Amino acid sequence: MSVTVLVGCQWGDEGKGKVADLLARRMDWVARYGGGHNAGHTVFLGREKFVLHLVPCGILQERPRNVIGHGTVVDPIYLLQEMDGLTRRGVRLDGRLYLSECAHVVMPWHRWIESLEGQDVRIGTTQRGIGPAYQDKAGRTGLRIHDLLDPAVLRQGIEEQAGRLDRLYRAAGQVPPQPIAEAVGEWVATYAAAADRLRPYVADTVTLLLAALQRDERILCEGAQGTFLDLDLGTYPFVTSSTTVSAGAATGLGLPPASLRKVVGICKAYSTRVGEGPFPAELSGEEAEALRRQGAEYGATTGRPRRVGWLDLAQLRHAVRINGVTGLYLTKLDILSGMPRIKACVAYDGPAGRLDLPPPDGPRLAACRPVYEEFDGWQESLRSVRRWLDLPATVRAYVTRVEEVVGCPILGLSVGAPRTALVPVPSGRRRR
Ligand code: IMP
Repeated sequence: MSVTVLVGCQWGDEGKGKVADLLARRMDWVARYGGGHNAGHTVFLGREKFVLHLVPCGILQERPRNVIGHGTVVDPIYLLQEMDGLTRRGVRLDGRLYLSECAHVVMPWHRWIESLEGQDVRIGTTQRGIGPAYQDKAGRTGLRIHDLLDPAVLRQGIEEQAGRLDRLYRAAGQVPPQPIAEAVGEWVATYAAAADRLRPYVADTVTLLLAALQRDERILCEGAQGTFLDLDLGTYPFVTSSTTVSAGAATGLGLPPASLRKVVGICKAYSTRVGEGPFPAELSGEEAEALRRQGAEYGATTGRPRRVGWLDLAQLRHAVRINGVTGLYLTKLDILSGMPRIKACVAYDGPAGRLDLPPPDGPRLAACRPVYEEFDGWQESLRSVRRWLDLPATVRAYVTRVEEVVGCPILGLSVGAPRTALVPVPSGRRRR
């Protein structure tokens, strides 16, 4: 029984795509367990860039089969576009991609509702209708993939929306983006056609994965977003609507919790966040602008500039505890080259004194001031380094200190976008 979970340890955009691609090589299955096309995982194959939003990164490797689990929410039109884009670029999908019949569907009205209710403005959402789709799921009014496959159920499900949308727009004193009766007719035709195209990929993915587990095959559960965007454990309400932490792999794929043996955490060598919400180690002004530019910190999904800051080790320590991280990858270390001094937040000064871990609620976290430890920077480019001992001593000191403060082994360092730009970190005495 060998299941590995890959999880983001910050607010998403940690560079999970690259590590997922690395781990996927040795896997029989790669399975996405949460989120929707709000996620964006970037993988470079040579000079070719792939940005995957719903399809697991394992699709870019020969070996693994890929699952979009029932914990995700799926926009069928968007998924088909992504699949078509992959097919055009020579990626084979048949027999390699399975879509859970129980995944909830993101429909056009979810995007309508998101902007109507102004939720996207307050939280700074990706405006993809993700929150309203999960709301329907929790409210037990959502449509699932198997509903889409039955034309009568699909028609009824869509027609039921007409009254609801009409009431919502009237109450808000607003006009819908398109006359509702006209939209409903279009949706029935569009989604029935989309369902026909998706039909060959739809499967009972719980049974598939449990059978794989029984055959002792290797499964990688690919997390989306990051720990602090988790609906329960993140900086609520500035979070996404799904379970992003490692436990989500059990609920979002139907795998027994005890089978999740390895948890690989991904963390950038500094912090970023898109959207609103507390961010104690955030930088501002010219310093922030320089780091954003150097790290090309613009959203893969929305193109928005990301907020940037120093690495927050108090937060990372908590992410390691919550997810049960067994090993970490530190990504984008190359971006810090050229900085005279580097800082990392090791604790917070809050109204109630010093804290080694983030407080659980947003307002208290927002009131925290970061306590920094400072490090010597390095001027050398790290992009061509492939061995630990070839790294500048200042880099090794920084990485070793991160590991010490967080209390979890660092397995590898990413020093550039290409697949090969990776430095394995030896354990213990082999480092010297
Ligand atoms: P939603 O997931 O679109 O509802 O957005 C909720 C919050 O999560 C917003 O702050 C988004 O910017 C953030 N978010 C959602 N997906 C991602 C992601 O893949 N990377 C980074 N932030 C994300």
